[in-house]
Amino acid sequence: MFEGKRLVVGITGGIAAYKAADLVSRLSKEGAQVQVILTEAARHFISPLTLATLSRRPVLWDLFSEGHHGVQHIDVAQEADLVVVAPATANIIAKMAVGLADDLLSTVVLATKAPVLVAPAMNVNMYENPVFQQNLHRLQELGFYVIEPESGMLACGMEGKGRLAPVEQILQAAAGILNPRRDLAGKTVLVTAGGTREAIDPVRYIGNRSSGKMGYAMAAVAQERGARVVLITGPTMLPPPPGIEVIGVETTREMQVEVLRYFPKADIVVKAAAVADYRPVSLSTHKLKKTGEKLTVELEPNPDILAELGRLKDRQVLVGFAAETEELLANASHKMEKKKLDMIVANDVTREGAGFGSDTNIVSLLFADGRVVELPRMSKTEVAHRVFDHLVELPAWRSKNHAYGMEEE
Ligand code: PMT
Repeated sequence: MFEGKRLVVGITGGIAAYKAADLVSRLSKEGAQVQVILTEAARHFISPLTLATLSRRPVLWDLFSEGHHGVQHIDVAQEADLVVVAPATANIIAKMAVGLADDLLSTVVLATKAPVLVAPAMNVNMYENPVFQQNLHRLQELGFYVIEPESGMLACGMEGKGRLAPVEQILQAAAGILNPRRDLAGKTVLVTAGGTREAIDPVRYIGNRSSGKMGYAMAAVAQERGARVVLITGPTMLPPPPGIEVIGVETTREMQVEVLRYFPKADIVVKAAAVADYRPVSLSTHKLKKTGEKLTVELEPNPDILAELGRLKDRQVLVGFAAETEELLANASHKMEKKKLDMIVANDVTREGAGFGSDTNIVSLLFADGRVVELPRMSKTEVAHRVFDHLVELPAWRSKNHAYGMEEE
């Protein structure tokens, strides 16, 4: 995956800098040419000698170093196939978000045309700080690749999100960027994400815990693999993925309208959204007043969008998700059959690291022919890759794959 590839690994000043030694070592052993750049702060955490030995070339940190013929930061930036910043502190992320270039690493990041993969690591309070979150979202909007940190015990003794993603995951992401699979090229993929909301009055609604992460990952991966992607999403806190047509909806019926509008053009539909099955019979035009008495909200069923697609489908491959709290495989299999799906991705949302809100998921893939593939805990991006890996091997897909090309609007 890395043979002959030229990577810049930028290491910034956090305690996770020591893990970058493993990253550099693994990349070098896999055949990559690795140019390490340290920030001034990173040199307090890890020795240049360690990294020079592992990468078998001198480590750079000085923007004004002599002895290089040419303009060093431009040469390094231009030669790179990929820039990986790991660990990335809040400081470098802030600089990248505004285009500040005051040292060698930030200057190389600004000057490169190569993709940039960022693996943040920091204290949980810094990670949750809204200013930092804004900067991270900005990077994602600009097309930087971001590997979310993990949750757990941090070096500062606090518990929470901020631990550098495992080196294995960073390697996988880097390999994916350098060797993109284009097996969905020319296809249109319709993805739904997030949760729908049903209003009770102007300030209250019935909703669910979906963050949109699973659906957004499905959309991003489909795009990475060459598809034209339409993402129909309930309200989320996530930035719109660059290059993807995004349609925001709130209610199940709004989602139904948009899904049906795009369905005829779709080759694949992935319904990762958590859809409200019921809505209030009546919507109060004023905020309901507290009376101290019991309050009953009468609900009526919403349309089942996916079941409708199952009835309408002619050539489309349909992938559903099943969020279960018991009898995972039996319930998911029942849904697959009832909604005439080609595949269903079943997640037991009671498990740690699975389902709503988390960056990882633990899923089983069920197929119409009765096969079941159980996957271990992995990032939602990796789950998305596995789903498409299996989908492109389905007989239903392979038989139609040659018959249909991309249809333009
Ligand atoms: O968004 P995240 O925080 O990342 O969380 C991810 C997730 C848990 C939401 C996702 O992995 C997931 O399981 N999505 C499906 C949730 C769900 O609504 O499951 P369900 O078992 O109720 O529905 C089965 C399928 O029918 C789903 O594909 C759903 O989109 C679809 N459906 C359901 C009801 C309805 N009225 N219309 C539908 O189309």
